[in-house]
Amino acid sequence: MASLDTLFEAARAIQAKAYAPYSRFKVGAAIATPSGQLFIGCNVENAAYPVGSCAEAGAISAMIAAGESRIAEIVVMGEGEHLVTPCGGCRQRIREFATPDTPIHIAGPEGIRKRFTLDELLPFSFGPDNLTDR
Ligand code: THU
Repeated sequence: MASLDTLFEAARAIQAKAYAPYSRFKVGAAIATPSGQLFIGCNVENAAYPVGSCAEAGAISAMIAAGESRIAEIVVMGEGEHLVTPCGGCRQRIREFATPDTPIHIAGPEGIRKRFTLDELLPFSFGPDNLTDR
């Protein structure tokens, strides 16, 4: 398993590569899978604003492209003093590949600021079970 330090450094490194000329708000995300692999993503904005994508979405795409589909833990690194927790859409994206107790670590440049579980950020969530369990 990639250590939390390794995940943190990976999120910081990919955050620097974000393409965010419009918001000027760079985000990096690093996912560890149960098999020990690590996947990274950054936000990629677009002149057509709604087409931009979040860092978490990029990391999830890389994970799926590599044939992995379970998130063991994730680090999200944003800018500024506030906690940069995943947006609502990304909470749902993470939900698809995580369990209620999957840790979501929120980081700033100085280190990990806070740890949430997925269930804390997205309680009573809708997921794959809703479609199969009927
Ligand atoms: N952003 C992310 O990449 N992840 C989040 O969870 C929150 C927001 C990006 C999207 C946009 O490029 C910029 O941050 C400002 O909203």
